Amino acid sequence: MRTQVGIIGAGPAGLLLSHLLHLRGISSVVLEKRSRDYVERRVRAGVLEQGTVDTLVEAGVGERMLREGLPHHGIELRYGGAGHRIAFEKLVPGRAITVYGQQEVVKDLIAARLAAGGDVRFEVEDVAVHGLDSEPYLTFGDERLDCDVIAGCDGFHGVSRPSIPEGVLSVFERDYPFAWLGILARVAPSSDELIYTRTERGFALHSMRSPTISRFYLQVPPDARMEDWPEERIWAELKARLETVPGFSLATGEILESGITPMRSFVVEPMQYGRLYLAGDAAHIVPPTGAKGLNLAVADVRVLTEALAAYFKDGTTDLLNGYSQACLKRVWRAQHFSYWMTTLLHTFEEDDAYARRLQLSYLDYVTSSEAAATTLAENYVGLPF
Ligand code: APR
Ligand code: PHB
Repeated sequence: MRTQVGIIGAGPAGLLLSHLLHLRGISSVVLEKRSRDYVERRVRAGVLEQGTVDTLVEAGVGERMLREGLPHHGIELRYGGAGHRIAFEKLVPGRAITVYGQQEVVKDLIAARLAAGGDVRFEVEDVAVHGLDSEPYLTFGDERLDCDVIAGCDGFHGVSRPSIPEGVLSVFERDYPFAWLGILARVAPSSDELIYTRTERGFALHSMRSPTISRFYLQVPPDARMEDWPEERIWAELKARLETVPGFSLATGEILESGITPMRSFVVEPMQYGRLYLAGDAAHIVPPTGAKGLNLAVADVRVLTEALAAYFKDGTTDLLNGYSQACLKRVWRAQHFSYWMTTLLHTFEEDDAYARRLQLSYLDYVTSSEAAATTLAENYVGLPF
């Protein structure tokens, strides 16, 4: 079997790449180890940058997002007993975010791929990468897929990055001394916009998915276990961290889904080796505080599509050779922003009183200086491509 681009992973990166290539008349096959049902149900983040929204609309897969997504023109930073709105409409006019679950993006992309006759294979076993220096091919089960190029869109725990020989990649990483406990709940949001709250008890985030479904996150110790967090304890802690301004009360409801996510920053350089190109979480991870994970995957795929389109059009490899460098500029900006939001809003056990005062004074600066608030806003809504 043969295709132009062999894609490993049916997450946002792999599916969007396959669709954008299709729109350029370039063939691809997507190999996914999980079932369709699993990838469509997997609850992840849900904030889309302006550029991501524009990319999905331009690619013809934005109709349901525009209909069901929630455009937001600001977020709130809550600390020290007060809330501070970061007003995108004032600070970065014309740019906003859209709250729309990542699994909804995945559902829309799978539907579009299959409607276009795309080759997306689920529950594929033992995908392995071969021939990166010459004639690349993928093996899976007892099959072989010959291709001109392989796109590693298989996330942090995939097979593509580890298939690059020892010593080729430089690894940059940082683990944080806490994790996020996230829940999806059947309750109307208690706020129209996202609330990022910093308290002495730790960070919390109030997000949402629809007028009836809310999403919450709590900073918890890195070794926290779900069994130690019964529903009452989760709601009590969310109330303790969010009901910190006059007149605000948090509505609670049935918890539909919950999980604990480690917090790490991770980048490999370069994001390519031979005929293999890494995109999304396969090459970089950000802590979710800046809501950049999904948006970085989309940015990578835009760059890779242009490079592959030029290569398949007339064999030019300039853009392909520059793929990694082009992506890493945006990756490191998002790495810094995500690190910055994380250190600004979480409490660190090892911090002494002096460090906590510094953190609060920085929050005071960000929420009182238009220049500093603009920096946050333009990074949050996403820098133009
Ligand atoms: N063979 C086939 N598929 C694989 C393999 C493998 N060996 N290993 C992983 N996969 C699949 C996973 O099951 C998953 O569906 O690759 C897909 C990778 O998708 P994501 O992890 O969603 O990564 P990406 O598409 O880069 O999207 C990044 O996802 O994790 C969030 O916060 C992150 O929002 C960011 C986004
Ligand atoms: C989410 O809605 O899941 C979400 C929002 C903002 C973040 C992270 C996650 O920073």
